Amino acid sequence: MTGWNASDIPDQSGRTAVVTGANSGIGYVTARELARRGARVVLACRSVERGTRALEELRSDVPSAVAEFRRLDLGDLSSVREFAASYDRDGHGEGLDLLINNAGVMALPYRQTADGFETQFGVNHLGHFALTGLLLPRLLRTPGARIVTVSSAVHVLANIDMGDLNSARSYRRWIAYARSKSANLLFVHELARRLAARGSGIVAAAAHPGYAETNLQAAAPKMEGRKIVERVMRLGNRVVAQPAATGALPTLYAATARGVRPDSFTGPRVLGWQGAPGKSWRARWTLNDTASERLWSASVGLTGVEYGALRR
Ligand SMILES: NC(=O)c1ccc[n+]([C@@H]2O[C@H](COP(=O)([O-])OP(=O)(O)OC[C@H]3O[C@@H](n4cnc5c(N)ncnc54)[C@H](OP(=O)(O)O)[C@@H]3O)[C@@H](O)[C@H]2O)c1
Repeated sequence: MTGWNASDIPDQSGRTAVVTGANSGIGYVTARELARRGARVVLACRSVERGTRALEELRSDVPSAVAEFRRLDLGDLSSVREFAASYDRDGHGEGLDLLINNAGVMALPYRQTADGFETQFGVNHLGHFALTGLLLPRLLRTPGARIVTVSSAVHVLANIDMGDLNSARSYRRWIAYARSKSANLLFVHELARRLAARGSGIVAAAAHPGYAETNLQAAAPKMEGRKIVERVMRLGNRVVAQPAATGALPTLYAATARGVRPDSFTGPRVLGWQGAPGKSWRARWTLNDTASERLWSASVGLTGVEYGALRR
């Protein structure tokens, strides 16, 4: 893995990738680099305006790109269902090679999704849980398929609370973010276990970007109209964070490099913060079979997405 970078991405011709949150930051770079190596990419974004603009930018960055925008709001299960149904209706050949569960929100003030879930848990975990389950039949039909879910080193701040998944009893924004990112890792753990039990060759893996300059850090202050904090966040990013292009490398590695193991967690090598991709440290609780099974069952109950092919 030494010094692995975007030029090491193997040829992706003939492969199709769905990237959530592809209009910005890590998601945009991931889609762009996959397209540069020949993949057909689907930019799955919640805003028509931002998604369309990203598609134009991608086509200008990579004139040979085969890319399209499709609307997906992970904070609304009806939108997730519509995305999967329209994707099926429009054909798109038989398979799906790469699903990149990248979209995310961080440390927002308390809000609920359209379905009444706390937003960070709802978008970061439940939305992706539902999307993956609905696209799974296609992934299962595709030899060499991979599912990469983007978590964060910040997951170490908090394990999920099975008694209060939606932070109904108490809400602390950073703890809720950390819990949603622990949920991402527990999801990957359980998904990998269930795929292995079925004898599937799909690789379900996790990645994180360290600290990368994107819109993530300024989103909450922007939402709250705290302009000075927003400016400070953006300035701090410029000084301390690595570029989004470097932050996307762990995702691109997990999605395309040879020998990536199921349930692995790839992040930047330098203190988990910056640099080329390497094996990342993860909290023990994200490898707990009982917890991952319980979260899986709760997520099936909350989303109504059954994962029939992987039922125990
Ligand atoms: N940047 C970092 O330092 C860092 C560190 C650790 C982990 N991460 C993780 O990296 C991933 C990508 O974040 P980023 O840093 O690239 O931030 P970003 O630039 O803010 O990108 C986040 C993306 O998620 C999308 N999104 C938010 N809510 C959504 C929803 N309800 N439905 C669909 N898409 C939605 C955003 O869309 P809009 O543009 O419409 O809001 C945007 O495209 C996240 O999972 C984040 O937790 C980032």
